[in-house]
Order: sequence, then C-alpha cells, then structure tokens
Amino acid sequence: MTLIKRPGWEIPESRVTPEAAALGRRSLLGAGAGLAAGAVFASRAAHAATQAAGPTATGPKAAGPKAAGLPPMNPPRNMTYRAGRALTAEKAAETYNNYYEFSQDKDLWRAAQKMTISPWEIRIEGLVAKPRTIGIDDLLRQVRLQERVYRHRCVETWAMTVPWTGFPMADLVKLADPLGSAKYVVFTTVEEPKAMSGLDSPLFPFPYVEGVTMAEAMNDLAFISVGLYGKPLPKQNGAPVRITLPWKYGFKSGKAFVKVAFTETQPKTFWAQIAPDEYGFWANVNPAVPHPRWSQATERLIGTNERVPTQIYNGYGPYVASLYAGMKGDMLFR
Ligand code: MTE
Repeated sequence: MTLIKRPGWEIPESRVTPEAAALGRRSLLGAGAGLAAGAVFASRAAHAATQAAGPTATGPKAAGPKAAGLPPMNPPRNMTYRAGRALTAEKAAETYNNYYEFSQDKDLWRAAQKMTISPWEIRIEGLVAKPRTIGIDDLLRQVRLQERVYRHRCVETWAMTVPWTGFPMADLVKLADPLGSAKYVVFTTVEEPKAMSGLDSPLFPFPYVEGVTMAEAMNDLAFISVGLYGKPLPKQNGAPVRITLPWKYGFKSGKAFVKVAFTETQPKTFWAQIAPDEYGFWANVNPAVPHPRWSQATERLIGTNERVPTQIYNGYGPYVASLYAGMKGDMLFR
C-alpha cells in the first residue's frame, strides 16, 4: 500500500478549478542604470482549454515527431511533485513569455519561430574529466524522460503551472563527469543574431548566462526540460533544451542552452550583471523579501488572474530548504 503524504503547500482539491481564459501581462524589468525602471501593464487575451493538474489528470496525447531511437515527449508523469493547482492553459503558457534575445514584449512567440533548433549541440567544458560536444539527440538517448508538473514563478509576480517533459539535472551532471573541484554549473544560451533581434540591444550583456551550485544541480527538483504539454518545447519556451528550477524566480531558468561549464567560481549571471541588487545569484522565491521595486507577497495566476499568496521556495521548501542550511540573509531571495 502506498501512502500519499501531501506537502504543506498543496491546496485542497476543491480549490483546483479549471481556468476559462488567460490574460497577459507586460512588465518591464528595470535593468540597472541604463534601463527605465517601472512596470507597464497591458492585457492580452489568450483563451484555451485547460486540464486539471492532479492524480486523475490524463497525460497529454500529442507526442511530437519521433526520430529513430528518441524517447516520446509524453512520458509518464512523476507524481512525487504535485502542483496543487490547475494547469495553466497551454496557449497562455506558450504565448506569454520572457525571452530577451527576441524581445522585451511578452508576445514574442511569433518572432521566436525564426530560430534554428536543429541540429543542436551542447558543449560540455570547464572542470570535467573530458570536455566534449554532445548532440541533443545523443543526449536524449542517454536519459529517461519523465513529466513533471511544476509551479513556475516569475520575479515579475506572475505564475503558471505547467507540465514539463525532461530529466533530472543530476543526470546531465553525471554524464558530464565533473572534477571534484567543480562548485558551480553554468548554462549559456545560444546567440543567433539573424533570428534574435534583441541581441542588438546595448543594454543587455548577452549571452544569457545562468548557473547553480553543484548541490542545487544535484537536487532532484532541478530539471532539464525538452518538452511542454507532452510535445517538444516550443521555441519561445526554450527549445530544444532549457533549465527548470521551480523553487527559484524564473529568470534562473535559462532557455536554449548550448554550453554547460563546470567552474570553481560563482558565475557572473546575466541579470546580476545588469542589476545585482534586484536579480542576484540565488533568487529563491520568498514572499517576505520584496523586490526593491515591488512586493513579492502575492502572485498572479496567468489564466484566471487570481492573486494567491506567494510561498517560500515557491512551496518547494521541503525539498530544497536544506540546501541553504546555515546561510542567512535577504541575498538568498533576490
Ligand atoms: N532565458 C533566456 N535565454 N532569455 C530570457 O530572457 N527569461 C527568463 C527565463 N529564461 C529568459 C530566459 C525569465 S525572466 C523567465 S520568467 C522565464 O524564462 C520565462 O519562461 P517561459 O517564457 O517559458 O514562461
């Protein structure tokens, strides 16, 4: 017999209601000295049918094109991580995005279609036994895919609940075979100037670089996503491969990475270079630590527009709080 112990953050099933529509929101992230601070809001309609997240939900049907020997994009759902919320409408999650390489607007999905995602290679380098380059198909043949429904919380205070297909980040680390001296894993996003007009902006220090400590990377929650809603990742969501760190603000989850480097020193991450007091290295979700320019106490669910309380570590504290034992201060939450 299996007993299901519900984590503290899970809301009662009675509150898990399907959404009818999704409203978009535009928020300009202030980028230090150069960028105008403030937030601009505009609503966009995006309607889609929804599926309830939870034990009775059936997996998505569409699995996407299947190349020889590649695993399907609709693998079994890992029920360890329950979102306790309705899934965000698929259309909303795929038309309301942050991807500064393309645009500072949320409706960049059309522009993102210009991007080339095949062939795709990932360079593994730095403190590893053997630096090498691995193709995405080769990588996918060496891992076992699973689906995870995670809550996804942007520093701008919007939130979604989406089913990612992917594999634990720990599997990628093991495959890379880092040296004992490695302390951080650093992910660098592709730069494709012909497709990504945002790269021209002098305000942003592209390429987009994000990273975590080795302990964070080895935590089971840290995920490498290659699919969404049972299909290959849409380009605007980070195709063909992105990181997914649900206990951290969304900006930590770099999209379309082409380099994984193991280092001894903490990387200079993209947003921390722009505004270190606002978007630091740790960026763990915490309702009690406001962003310097807005409160983080509540979050707005894309789709229903409902405001719900923010939870520390986005509700994943039982899985990750121990990573920060002995560490103190607001810097952990920015
Ligand atoms: N990765 C890259 N390369 N460029 C970006 O601008 N934006 C980040 C993150 N990853 C970003 C990125 C931010 S701020 C958020 S909130 C999430 O992507 C949004 O992911 P989504 O569009 O799939 O919801």
